[in-house]
Amino acid sequence: MRIFIFHLLTPILGLSLLLGGAKNLIAAGEVEVLHWWTSGGEATALRVIKDNLQKKGVSWVDMPIAGGAGVNAMTVLRARVSSGKPPTAVQLLGFDITSWAEEDVLADLNDLAKQENWNKVIPQPLQDFAIYKGKWVSVPINVHSTNWVWANKAIFDKLNLAVPTNWNEFKLAVEKIKKAGIIPIAHGGQPWQDATIFDSLVMVAGGADFYKKAFLDLDAKALGSKTMEKAFSYLRFIRANLDPNFSGRDWNLASSMVIEGKAAMQIMGDWAKGEFVKADQVAGKDFICFRFPGTQGNVTFNADQFAMFKLGKSQKVNQDKLALVIADKDTQARFNQIKGSVPARIDISDAGFDACGKKGIKDLRESAANGTMMGSMAHGYAAPPAVKNAVFDVVTKFFNDEKVTPAKAAKMLAVAVAIAQ
Ligand code: GAL
Repeated sequence: MRIFIFHLLTPILGLSLLLGGAKNLIAAGEVEVLHWWTSGGEATALRVIKDNLQKKGVSWVDMPIAGGAGVNAMTVLRARVSSGKPPTAVQLLGFDITSWAEEDVLADLNDLAKQENWNKVIPQPLQDFAIYKGKWVSVPINVHSTNWVWANKAIFDKLNLAVPTNWNEFKLAVEKIKKAGIIPIAHGGQPWQDATIFDSLVMVAGGADFYKKAFLDLDAKALGSKTMEKAFSYLRFIRANLDPNFSGRDWNLASSMVIEGKAAMQIMGDWAKGEFVKADQVAGKDFICFRFPGTQGNVTFNADQFAMFKLGKSQKVNQDKLALVIADKDTQARFNQIKGSVPARIDISDAGFDACGKKGIKDLRESAANGTMMGSMAHGYAAPPAVKNAVFDVVTKFFNDEKVTPAKAAKMLAVAVAIAQ
């Protein structure tokens, strides 16, 4: 009971009290930043921010928490804030930004936003999360999207495979690869990775309208529908075409399998490209990227943003410098060329980007114009954390338990999402 009361009160008044007296023990010219960019590609991209910040006389004190999609980082963050030692800044996604803003613990960045015209250069779907009740509370650095496939070009060439454009072609390609004795899909069995694939499958099963109804509007009928059953049956097909050691594997190790020619494809957000680039692979020559077959024209996005905790005047100077570096055009161009994502700013040319980067920028602009740029469920841009976690539970349960039929999974999904709201 006591634990229950603590949890209930903490978000309401506990955190503001704790943060009121919060002190993080870092030196004057430093910022401590909590993030989850620990893979080779991610760490290389991060260097761009660190170096540009250092040029402004501020040192980045690293607080990396390994674990894709920030799952572990969010647990550590909660513990740090609850113990009165929030970091200076934190990497956040979508509805997590909103949750922290609701607790009134994030610094107000409105002066910078005004001075730098962020409302003109940052697209509305990102502003919807970066601004809370009229205040800028975070700075977006990029836009990633989840509906991508990363493929080994030599394997595709050897088997004479064309880029599949719909589910049936994808299935045929997978079967052909399997017959050739190659692992068709490299995957890491972690709930967020299972859910990342599921973003695309929901879109393939019912198109953009269905994705919106089910994942953005959380419509119970759509969640429990025959179309959702179809999405689950697609997931079962994918599960049947992995290697036996997929369980618990980190996403970047799955990328390595494709890079090394041990597997043909990985279904993953475009942070995977960072691993290919880090391994000196060239887009279009060593690897190919394509939208998950059947999702062309649509984008399920997630954008990495950085929020600052309210830590008083002395810290605000450094926080502002960090925010300016993150929003800076040069930082965003170079960072995203390495990271695999698209700049958050719309006023950056695609000139320095490789073929996949150029496609990412083009796809994003088109989908934004057509109203088919939609938040990723797997990466916190479709629904609040409780709903996202409920979706993770059902998808992963289905993924790992053959006794759960697609029909049962769809019913479970509708119930789990209803309870989580
Ligand atoms: C995403 C994040 C990416 C990348 C990925 C793997 O949620 O937006 O920047 O880090 O997780 O951890």
